[in-house]
Amino acid sequence: MSSQKKILVIGSNGQIGTVLTKTLGQKFGFENVIGSDLRMPDTPTKFIFEECSVLNKEKLERIINRYNISDVYLLAAYLSAKGEKNIDKAWDLNMNGLLHILNFAKEKKIQKIFWPSSIAVFGPSTPKNNVPQYTITEPTTIYGVSKLAGETLCNYYHSKFGIDIRSIRYPGIIGWESMPGGGTTDYAVDIFHEALKHQEYTCFLSRDRTLPMMYMNDAIQATIGIMEAQVDKIKIRTSYNLSSCHFSPNDLAEEIKKHIPSFKIKYKVDERDTLAQGWPSSINDRHARNDWGWEPNFNLSQIVSDIILNLRNRYKK
Ligand code: SER
Repeated sequence: MSSQKKILVIGSNGQIGTVLTKTLGQKFGFENVIGSDLRMPDTPTKFIFEECSVLNKEKLERIINRYNISDVYLLAAYLSAKGEKNIDKAWDLNMNGLLHILNFAKEKKIQKIFWPSSIAVFGPSTPKNNVPQYTITEPTTIYGVSKLAGETLCNYYHSKFGIDIRSIRYPGIIGWESMPGGGTTDYAVDIFHEALKHQEYTCFLSRDRTLPMMYMNDAIQATIGIMEAQVDKIKIRTSYNLSSCHFSPNDLAEEIKKHIPSFKIKYKVDERDTLAQGWPSSINDRHARNDWGWEPNFNLSQIVSDIILNLRNRYKK
């Protein structure tokens, strides 16, 4: 069965989609992985690519039928900062995109779905540190509101129709292979590029704004890990807390200075800091660890070393 799985990644040009599609291709064969996004990717891909919006239900259905898709990874979303500037569009994309995919599963056109939620489901009334799985969720961004509603929708479709949907609450994801867009945690990717190119970075979050973060390699491992776990291991059908490390812009800058001693960080805080202010500093993910064996591999110093090594290669510095 698993050798015949056909995978569709929706949002394959995005920060996570770029790396996830490549990794899935390496694992399951590029002929079994179909990427889709609004526009053709900038560089040629080894996997099959289809230009499609997740809001175009008819075209999506044709793609699912043509390739006999079994597993869908739905990554297309408006993130927190972009969502605040486009509230209606964020709600439309984040909710109706999910509903289309859930209904394909209900109609038995696909078998399994991955859909990410986020730390943005939490808000100022949530405890700040070591946030448990079950806690107050009163988000203050449309991104968080849509993710929280999406979690509830996933749980409902699972209990009512038996849909096999699996979800994790991503923290801020950082890596070197792809660029994020529209998020509050994007600073933690931009900072590396600026550090290597200009030895200086102006940060839009405040110096001590500690947030839960994760290396891309760990995020990909968790994403494929939860999808490949035996079905009886998945006990939470809203979304699992997931954690690896947490740090502030100042912590990250200090770590970068170990590799680039001349690096300087300045602060010019904007509205994204207010969004981040409502989010937790750290997350308790014991359910993910106990239920399906999640375990991260990268701490802050390993993340920084690995990103700088790879970007130095890219920039030939
Ligand atoms: N990285 C996301 C954002 O900043 C949070 O999940 O919007």
